[in-house]
Amino acid sequence: MERIQPNRLDRGFYKYQEEFEQKALDVLRSGWYILGNENTSFEEEYAAYTGAKYCVGLASGLDALCLAFRVLGIGQGDEVIVQGNTYIASVMGITINGATPIFVEPNAYFNINTKKIEAKITKKTKAILVVHLYGQASKMDDIVDLCKKYKLKLVEDCAQSHGACYKGQMTGTFGDIGCFSFYPSKNIGAFGDAGAIVTNDEKIAAAMKIYRNYGSEKRYYNKVIGTNSRLDEIQAGLLRVRLKHATELMCEKQEIAQKYLAAIHNALIELPSTQEGATHIYHQFVIRCSKRDALMAYLNDREIGTIIHYPIPPHLAEAYQYLGYQEGVFPITEQYAKEVLSIPMYNGMTEEEQNRVIEALNAFS
Ligand SMILES: Cc1ncc(COP(=O)(O)O)c(C=O)c1O
Repeated sequence: MERIQPNRLDRGFYKYQEEFEQKALDVLRSGWYILGNENTSFEEEYAAYTGAKYCVGLASGLDALCLAFRVLGIGQGDEVIVQGNTYIASVMGITINGATPIFVEPNAYFNINTKKIEAKITKKTKAILVVHLYGQASKMDDIVDLCKKYKLKLVEDCAQSHGACYKGQMTGTFGDIGCFSFYPSKNIGAFGDAGAIVTNDEKIAAAMKIYRNYGSEKRYYNKVIGTNSRLDEIQAGLLRVRLKHATELMCEKQEIAQKYLAAIHNALIELPSTQEGATHIYHQFVIRCSKRDALMAYLNDREIGTIIHYPIPPHLAEAYQYLGYQEGVFPITEQYAKEVLSIPMYNGMTEEEQNRVIEALNAFS
């Protein structure tokens, strides 16, 4: 019996093999490999896709977050509100700039509980970082209202939410900056590391272009201490191919999700739900189970691979010991870390593979 992997990136490649290979060859033969026509075209096309005015290609999603706070002038002595149950990169984007993350517990949809934000706002709060976790849009109207009321910057971590909307508006376009990762496993994935920001603010877009290229607008004239976070031509080109097929790719995953939602019946397993007004693009299909570790081992014995996103919440990570949190301070976040499990879900997943996952989950006791 062939093992079902949590994800199969090869299937996504073979689906459009000819187009990807042609694009890679074109770029290789072009003689231009960093910040060229592919990057410019991708930036235009991705901005149009999200509905934002500007897109700036970067080297990774983490760079997008780090540079977002840097460009907004958020650093030492400032606080940024973020949900507790996110991937560590969201938090690193804040702390690399010297700012302090202020954690808020998640809601039943694994996103920030917007009712718990206001109590965490202090004089030091400069921004809210919203993470549309696992591919579901957060409750953006509440968050936009809070940002307006307290004059806070709004940054969106859309590393997992390409194409997901709240009340018809694409994630990434609600605030000052939307940060995207195109890590290969993402719904719009490159074939290596890649990232981008989107914004409606011309000044932010211009500053990002300077920061990503050693702080220079004009070659060898360095205005600020920037970094090297440029998008490779080959990745930009391959992303353009992926973007052309984005709707089709996302519909396919949504169909698998609908099948899982309709066919998985087990009182021990809680299926993901989508909140009113939001869409879910199922970057991950995350279930909850109080016997999670036993379920994981059981599936593994049946040649079904799963992943925990994420086993250690950032406030308990060794890297963040200096923040001084003890176990028990964020009980919902910590409970999720003990109960969540991402089951196999990918483009090109066969019916047989889907059925094996469903049957195994239904038979778990
Ligand atoms: C929620 C979240 N934020 C940020 C990132 C960072 O993206 P990258 O791996 O491209 O640096 C990721 C990627 O894994 C992510 O899942």
